[in-house]
Amino acid sequence: MIQDIDQIRSHFPYLQCARGGDRQLIYFDNAATTQKPRAVIDATSRWLQEANANVHRAIYGLAASATEHYEAGREAVRGLINAASKDEIVLTSGTTASINLLANIYGQKYIRPGDEILLSEGEHHSNIVPWQMLCARTGARLRYFPVGEDGQWDLGAAERILAEGKVKIVSAAHISNVLGIVNPVGELTVLAHRYGAVIHLDGAQGIVHEGIDVQETPCDFYSFSGHKLYALTGTGVLYGRRSLLETLPPWMGGGEMVDTVTYERTTYAPVPLRFEAGTPNFIAAATLKPAIDFVTSVDVPQVRENEKRMTDYLMRELNAVDGLRIIGSGGKKAPLISFTVEGAHHSDIATLLDKMGVAVRSGQMCSEPLLAKFGLTGAVRVSLAAYNTMQECEAFMGALRKVLAMLR
Ligand SMILES: Cc1ncc(COP(=O)(O)O)c(C=O)c1O
Repeated sequence: MIQDIDQIRSHFPYLQCARGGDRQLIYFDNAATTQKPRAVIDATSRWLQEANANVHRAIYGLAASATEHYEAGREAVRGLINAASKDEIVLTSGTTASINLLANIYGQKYIRPGDEILLSEGEHHSNIVPWQMLCARTGARLRYFPVGEDGQWDLGAAERILAEGKVKIVSAAHISNVLGIVNPVGELTVLAHRYGAVIHLDGAQGIVHEGIDVQETPCDFYSFSGHKLYALTGTGVLYGRRSLLETLPPWMGGGEMVDTVTYERTTYAPVPLRFEAGTPNFIAAATLKPAIDFVTSVDVPQVRENEKRMTDYLMRELNAVDGLRIIGSGGKKAPLISFTVEGAHHSDIATLLDKMGVAVRSGQMCSEPLLAKFGLTGAVRVSLAAYNTMQECEAFMGALRKVLAMLR
């Protein structure tokens, strides 16, 4: 087991690089993507050299080996989320692709004019736009349940909408990429099912900081991106409960997703391959295995404890800065905090922080409606990963104070 923070950091070549002389970049944009552990980098290079052949097609040994690595990635995901079968794991190119796939396949089968789709007000564009497109195609209605001033879900309002009986699918973030609040997804799952709706959880941030057991929290669908969980970009997951997934038609057509094809018609492969048309990003998908091995080999309670101490410290110190407003300070906080500061533009703050060696996100964070609800057009976001330290948090606060003294 990888125990202390120095050991964790030693797994990340990026953290060993110096920038601008001997200064190391403090990387606080982990909600966008994480740095990669050596095991992922090495496996990529090894498989490109030794196991590069198209998957699920040919019978020669090299192709069998590539397929094994690809399927090992799928099995690692199954274990991570405790899915009942690896056939419930559809491999995609990321959360965005997963939600677009779901909106298309679920929509085609189950959504009719007058049906409703229910989202929270705290969603990433990836969990809004595909549903808007589905509504435009089908005549369904998109509805939102509110998040309060403190960023927490109003579950009473969600229940009132569900009780009207028209909602077919609920889709909401496990952890918002702006508010950083761990949402009560178990309660929302119970509510959705009580009123006959299915539920999809956007786990892009949730899988990293909370994890999910899809049997304990029996959501119908769960999606996430590999690249936020230390795997390569271009990898993602759509988990779907098998009994439901099996009822759904394919979306993209092409190689690998078929059973038999004639000039006139096609019968489709069983799940999950029915949803994986064409050559997948197979080496990147295979890195889900070393990435998940890394995630499960750290001392998880200790990492969570470290993240909590850093989050508490940042919340306390940020709250003490004159004119600084944290967006969504209620509930249980993941190590992801967005804020604005009176008299200082978010882009200027991020630009100057970069000059001082701290990488943070600024702007709309792909959540324009949520920011607009809070009367904002942008914010600064710090988001931590397992390799960040308290010293980095202290250095960030020192740099932020200097930046604000320059700007105000
Ligand atoms: C909550 C949430 N949903 C969806 C996404 C989209 O993920 P991707 O760009 O990897 O598809 C993100 C990315 O930041 C996110 O934070």
